[in-house]
Amino acid sequence: MREGRPVWIKCRRRGAAPIVACANSFFRLAGNPVRALAQPDVWQRWEVDCFLSLHGDGYRAFADGVRRVAADEVPGVNLTCHLDGGTITPPMLATAAQELRRAHSQYCADFGGLWSHGDPHVGNFIYDAASGRARLIDFEVMHHPAMPAEERHADDLLVFIQDMVGRISRDLWMPSAMAFLKAYGEQRIIDLLRARLVIPRGLARVWWAVRTTYLAPRELESRIAELRAAI
Ligand SMILES: Nc1ncnc2c1ncn2[C@@H]1O[C@H](COP(=O)(O)OP(=O)(O)O)[C@@H](O)[C@H]1O
Ligand SMILES: [Mg+2]
Repeated sequence: MREGRPVWIKCRRRGAAPIVACANSFFRLAGNPVRALAQPDVWQRWEVDCFLSLHGDGYRAFADGVRRVAADEVPGVNLTCHLDGGTITPPMLATAAQELRRAHSQYCADFGGLWSHGDPHVGNFIYDAASGRARLIDFEVMHHPAMPAEERHADDLLVFIQDMVGRISRDLWMPSAMAFLKAYGEQRIIDLLRARLVIPRGLARVWWAVRTTYLAPRELESRIAELRAAI
């Protein structure tokens, strides 16, 4: 609790810098176009700025000491609860897509262009059934600013799709993926996503395996091919 309101507090442990550096080296080698922010003050500023620019109309976020960030609790449940519980529905996925599109339409000075998240997996959306909307949280990483906004946006779509494909039943996969993309709606970005729906080799394949929750390779290939064809 802070000033009588429930908050979530994230903490950067002492000694985290080498772990962050290691993660960033892996991301570079595996072709993941983001970096985790190693310096605590830089990370705090990014988390707070992103949270406020998306949710600052009703919720607060602030640096809490030198190693913590506090953010007001936003209403709802982590969308992963519905995905892993088998209760996810196309309308829920549409709210996540609408939230991502809203976020992608915001200007960000750090990018000198439109904002992107870098890690919008399903668990980074809080879905509120009462209001029928989802909110994006967790601003721990940042896309490389040199990447064009459209490429960053396509990468965000890919992250969500990769997370979903590995945790959903076969029969729900295509209706869910299509509901998500239809609600996102930007065909130019979806075309760029299509180009990314190719399972790579080498270290990049290892990262795909992590991202897709180690779904069996044949099943993964068939699901991704089906989505590519449908797009
Ligand atoms: N502002 C918030 N409102 C509601 N739930 C939150 C909030 N911040 C974090 N959480 C919960 O805590 C979990 C972990 O927080 P997150 O910011 O995603 O950090 P991590 O980097 O550990 O994934 C989230 O998935 C969500 O369930
Ligand atoms: Mg998270």
